[in-house]
Amino acid sequence: MKIGILTAGGDCPGINAAIRGVGKTAILEYGMEVIGISSGFLGLINQEYTVLDENQLSGILTLGGTILGTSRENPFKKSSTFNTIDKPKLIRKHYNELNLDALVCIGGNGTQRTAALLAEEGLNIIGIPKTIDNDVFGTDVTFGFDSAVWIATEAIDRLHSTANSHKRIMVIEVMGHHAGWLALYSGIAGGGDVILIPEIEYKIESVAKCLKKRAINKKPYSIVVVAEGIPKPKEMSAAQYIGNSIKELTGLETRETILGYVQRGGTPSPMDRVLATRYGAYAVELIAAKKFGRMVSLKGNDITSVPLKDVGGKLRLVPINDPLVEKARKMDICFGSGN
Ligand code: F6P
Repeated sequence: MKIGILTAGGDCPGINAAIRGVGKTAILEYGMEVIGISSGFLGLINQEYTVLDENQLSGILTLGGTILGTSRENPFKKSSTFNTIDKPKLIRKHYNELNLDALVCIGGNGTQRTAALLAEEGLNIIGIPKTIDNDVFGTDVTFGFDSAVWIATEAIDRLHSTANSHKRIMVIEVMGHHAGWLALYSGIAGGGDVILIPEIEYKIESVAKCLKKRAINKKPYSIVVVAEGIPKPKEMSAAQYIGNSIKELTGLETRETILGYVQRGGTPSPMDRVLATRYGAYAVELIAAKKFGRMVSLKGNDITSVPLKDVGGKLRLVPINDPLVEKARKMDICFGSGN
């Protein structure tokens, strides 16, 4: 069999571990030929490929980013009226010209939505859920998330010492797109006093009240962790909006940090290396069994798979009564909802 691999959407630690898991299982266990496709779906449109052999797969487990490159190309998005290229048709044509028996799509929400549509067009597709946001419906965890939690937590740990030295409120903004998983987990792991996520409606007055109460109780400083996707004026970042509001409402000295793309860089955590390897290896098992149109997933500690048509493009958000949120509330961690 001959399989293609592409990596699409935002990069994250662990993608190369997943490529390695697919490639080594395919080549060594099943004698398959493996083709790497450059820059996500763009590579299938522009016919940019490389043969992946054992040498290419050697030494990439710990590498950040993706050796194939990525893009946010969405072939099903209607671009400008002048651009009449039928990209899905081109992808089907090049997939057939490559004589691929299957295509592995490593990516987040957008990628799995495109993967599901290509599966409906008759391509043999397997999806692997990847993103630091952890917001892909149909799996408990995406790889990339654990690494980003580590990075954000390490940053929050460092903010405690400077906040304490200056007796300040430190606001840190983490990524996560429309979901609050990264802010919730790094906020808990980093000892955040206030955690604001898109899924829980917050009132800035409640945040101010929490912080004033801490100051009155002689807490020397406070850490406020905010998800980039919380409601805010569109011309400001979440950190700026929350920081400015805290200054105005409490008079407390406040500083802001936007963590940004460091959350997507560098070597994957051990857990992400293992999860990405498990996902990659299982993707090949599905191909060998000719079970296409599915996305590999984690349920509890078991690797399984779900139909792409049921999950492609769907968001998995933090449930408002998530057990972790409930536990945090009982520890007086403020979510800005008057708790
Ligand atoms: O989906 C991963 C992510 O890092 C989000 O958390 C963030 O909002 C987005 O990508 C940034 O997109 P881009 O890499 O296109 O700037």
